[in-house]
Amino acid sequence: MANYKNVSVKGRTFRVRAGDVLLDGALANGVDIPHDCRAGTCGACMVQVVKGQTVCGETHTHGMVHACQARVVSDLEVEMEDVPEIDTTRARLTGIRELAPDILELKIAPERSITYLPGQYFRFAFNGFPARAYSPTGSFDGRIGGRVIHLNVKRVRGGRVSTALGTSIRPGHRLRVEGPFGRAFLRPGGKGRLILAGSGTGFAPVWAIACMALREYRGRPIVMIAGARRLSALYMKPALMQLARLPNVTIIPVIEEGPSPTPAVRIGRIEAHMPPLEASDIVYACGSPRMVSALAGLVDGAGATFYADPFESAAPEESGGLIGILKTLVQPRRNLQQSGEDGPAQRQPESYRSEPA
Ligand code: FES
Repeated sequence: MANYKNVSVKGRTFRVRAGDVLLDGALANGVDIPHDCRAGTCGACMVQVVKGQTVCGETHTHGMVHACQARVVSDLEVEMEDVPEIDTTRARLTGIRELAPDILELKIAPERSITYLPGQYFRFAFNGFPARAYSPTGSFDGRIGGRVIHLNVKRVRGGRVSTALGTSIRPGHRLRVEGPFGRAFLRPGGKGRLILAGSGTGFAPVWAIACMALREYRGRPIVMIAGARRLSALYMKPALMQLARLPNVTIIPVIEEGPSPTPAVRIGRIEAHMPPLEASDIVYACGSPRMVSALAGLVDGAGATFYADPFESAAPEESGGLIGILKTLVQPRRNLQQSGEDGPAQRQPESYRSEPA
């Protein structure tokens, strides 16, 4: 005889067989848990286990599991944060420019408003090409939101999408935008110290988080650690210079391979240049899975809070509702633009996204 367990998700209760996957059980019972890859890589389905036990699907954050991987082995009570609903809209690429060798900025104008939290990502499917996942970011002068979405995309050798940017995919190209996904987003209303670590185009989501956090509270303490393989790939220098003007913000540019023109640009890996962590810190890590994994260990040791968005690739002010939600309100326009990708950026554990080129 089947062994059933009672599961409660945000107060909605249903029964599943012991051993069933939590996400499957919820969806079968009409309870929606936001999800994307269903493979334990994107992090979109992360939920908090408040009571009971699951096996498999663990994340770097205590008590958080990937619902698409976690199997129910006891009665269960699960909570999840409210996030904007996943939606789809058409859009147009309005601009492409090179920020550094093999790093592009894209500007994309959606046909209607989209809502997301800084740090989340969308799937962008250019007509005739497979979808790729990128996180909207701010412009280098710190503006975020508005009519145009900015993306930072790494051109990946052999990537079907990223290598077509600027050739087969040019301003005016139309695309479909689906999302938002991901849970490595800025929680609104905080004033405690943020440690933001972004390697490569992992800078895009952490820059979005920095822009919104400073819009909410200009005096918020922030440590921004931006990493790249070499100096020429440190494409975010203009954004870092903006941050450097703020007395409450510390910037730590890091390159893996020297030489460095100044002691201000450190050499080594991001994890080697992290400041001492405190339990009250909130750490976001986006980019290389190796870096994310290394920071997870440091954060765990300090008892701090951790949100991460590992990429596989060699890929405010708010208005109303949830503080921190960004809305881009877009009227159809003749021309406009934006950035991001690729390869297959597969986001893993703590956060979300990407796929193969
Ligand atoms: S849907 Fe579960 S990790 Fe992607």
